[in-house]
Amino acid sequence: MPFDIHAVRAQFPALASDAVYFDNPGGTQVPRRVVERMADYLVRCNANHGGAFPTSVQSDAILEAAHAAMADLLNCRPDEVVFGPNMTTLTLHVSRSLARRLQPGDEIVVTRLDHDANIAPWLLVAEDRGAVIRWVDLHEADCTLRMEDFQALIGPRTKIVAVGYASNAVGTINDVAAVVRLAHAVGALVYVDAVQFAPHGVIDVQALECDFLACSPYKFFGPHAGVLYGRRELLEALPAYKVRPATDEPPGKWETGTQNHEGQAGVLGAVEYLEWLGAEDQSQALTPNLQALVTRNDPERRRRLVRGLALLADYERTLGARLVAGLQTLPGLTIYGITDPARFDQRVPTVSFTVAGWHPRRIAEQLAEHAIYVWDGNYYALAVAERLGVQAQGGMVRVGLAHYNTAEEVDRLITVLGELRR
Ligand SMILES: Cc1ncc(COP(=O)(O)O)c(C=O)c1O
Repeated sequence: MPFDIHAVRAQFPALASDAVYFDNPGGTQVPRRVVERMADYLVRCNANHGGAFPTSVQSDAILEAAHAAMADLLNCRPDEVVFGPNMTTLTLHVSRSLARRLQPGDEIVVTRLDHDANIAPWLLVAEDRGAVIRWVDLHEADCTLRMEDFQALIGPRTKIVAVGYASNAVGTINDVAAVVRLAHAVGALVYVDAVQFAPHGVIDVQALECDFLACSPYKFFGPHAGVLYGRRELLEALPAYKVRPATDEPPGKWETGTQNHEGQAGVLGAVEYLEWLGAEDQSQALTPNLQALVTRNDPERRRRLVRGLALLADYERTLGARLVAGLQTLPGLTIYGITDPARFDQRVPTVSFTVAGWHPRRIAEQLAEHAIYVWDGNYYALAVAERLGVQAQGGMVRVGLAHYNTAEEVDRLITVLGELRR
């Protein structure tokens, strides 16, 4: 069954408007299933965790199902899935816990391609513990990471390597598995920021062999939330910053305070949607029964998720190529990152550019007047913007495609960009 863009768009109530959502790396729209899951939770079983009464029991079943669903999305165990408010907060928590293991002079490797959420927590930890930060640079020509820097910088004193899976600014996909091999060879742990890869491809933490991996469901069609995968032994062994009555067992020991339960129900809905994308027979629509909950790993679901995400990635590669080709026809426009279509398996369709003589905010404003929503600035990829020398000029304009965008929308963007007014 080919990728049916009309069926896909029909799942997203927000897409009924005339707006063109190219702000996806900042947050995606949600399918109806997510809204239904959240509403169902709030109406049917809104309760706190661990009670003896039916709403609390039903609420816990939803939370369990959300962990199991994310486990199938990431290919791990449900008790290796930690929910939290967002990726940044989860990362600050884990980094503080890992800091306790650091000695003065230990080294942490970070990259200039990362979002600050996978840099600043490590800078803070280094400051607290007297550790040394080593920076991996990027190739300016195509915004890929300098893999030779990892080789040179990872050594006997390296304790943590923090690397992104895909750049939120320029779209580069990094060879995380290769970084993990280098880090593990010296006994260092690897923390992967998969926030911008999750909406665009299949994540397999077992294949990557990473120690931690964080993502944000609101970037992959779910509600505002964060999810962290941690290897079971590490989640068990590391100290969590928690209150005493809370469980000492993972994942609960890492899920501080009362969680956003309706948010977890919504994340379950987002995974169900991705599963639907990969279903052989989409006429079945989404499982109508909201009470049907899978609370363990389900290999069939994993298979459908992998299939759905592979279909989505194929579609996005074609759309991304159209976007890059269209942008390249515009005078004075510079794209930062990979532009060779033969290499589009090394990027997600997040494309940043500048136009000579134009402030990025002016371009974003004019696009907004045409109901085309894009980001401008550094989008917290501060190191990237500084390294590319665009920070002082207002950063870049970022067009971030999702699988629900269309060729017509891309063409509309190119037309408007071709008619910018002074
Ligand atoms: C690559 C990347 N990492 C981390 C974050 C931060 O995620 P959150 O808002 O969930 O803290 C973002 C948000 O834009 C991002 O794009």
